[in-house]
Amino acid sequence: MPLATGQLIQNPPPDQTILSSRQYRLWEDMLENRTGVRIKVQREEYVRTEIAKRMAECGWADADSYFREVLETLNGPREWSILLDRLLVKDTRFFRHQPSHDYVRDRIATRAAADPAQTFNIWSAGCASGEESYSLALDASEGFTMAGQADNYYIVGTDVSGDAIATARKGIYSSSRIDNLSLPLKQKYFSVVNEQRQQIIKPVRQRVAFLILNLLEQQEQYHHQMDLIFCQNVLIYFKQWRRRDIVNIFEACLKPGGCLIIGPGELTDWESENMTRIDRSGIQAYEKVMV
Ligand SMILES: C[S@@+](CC[C@H](N)C(=O)[O-])C[C@H]1O[C@@H](n2cnc3c(N)ncnc32)[C@H](O)[C@@H]1O
Repeated sequence: MPLATGQLIQNPPPDQTILSSRQYRLWEDMLENRTGVRIKVQREEYVRTEIAKRMAECGWADADSYFREVLETLNGPREWSILLDRLLVKDTRFFRHQPSHDYVRDRIATRAAADPAQTFNIWSAGCASGEESYSLALDASEGFTMAGQADNYYIVGTDVSGDAIATARKGIYSSSRIDNLSLPLKQKYFSVVNEQRQQIIKPVRQRVAFLILNLLEQQEQYHHQMDLIFCQNVLIYFKQWRRRDIVNIFEACLKPGGCLIIGPGELTDWESENMTRIDRSGIQAYEKVMV
């Protein structure tokens, strides 16, 4: 139990020695078992500090008891989701890997020209606070415009972090986060909220849904028949065997002819008889063979 009222630690300085090596390993393993994410050595100090801070906030002095609270009690899932929001790396930005986005736009333009009545469905897996999913929406809108067609696409962005998904749903970003976008893109797809913030316009937001989803727990039936799955800077935190498992699930979620795009170099030892590597320089993408 936390300390009784009156015994609460009043803002103690975060002390990374609060966790012994054994206790730190328990947290490290829990994070990996539950999310697949392996903490890099360089982040150990940060993770220790965040756990110590959270313990202090809740009044826990004993690290073993706090661990048991998260692992075994009814309050555990709530506490875990708060910790998770703090421990995961959620760095992201608009059009993070431009060559991949150029390919998405061109691919959608080609499909829209050939078959404008067919909705193009995209899954942005591990989307953090939404910048990746909205970048894909802009790719799609531009693709349909290039083809001379009205928008006909939907995107689902998923992430294990509840905080990230809540931010993504709002679609509001500080102006500095969209500095790298061209003026025409900004003018076409963002509305000014105030001097510091801009929001993705409603017609685009209405095409993008966000869900909390743990890639280790996903059920294929929720995300099947996708035309395109985009997953970048997520697999790199996982062990190789887990990367292969997740990519196998992505394959099952694609339509025949659908496309998977991951970050270049994020998976080196995977192949499948149902997927062919797309020959475009600078990107790592696969197409599911037609049956
Ligand atoms: C570094 S961010 C990358 C965001 C975006 N894909 C990009 O490239 O900019 C990694 C994201 O993966 C999410 N993530 C990590 N493990 C996950 C899991 N098991 N299921 C779903 N999302 C996960 C994190 O919460 C984080 O938002």
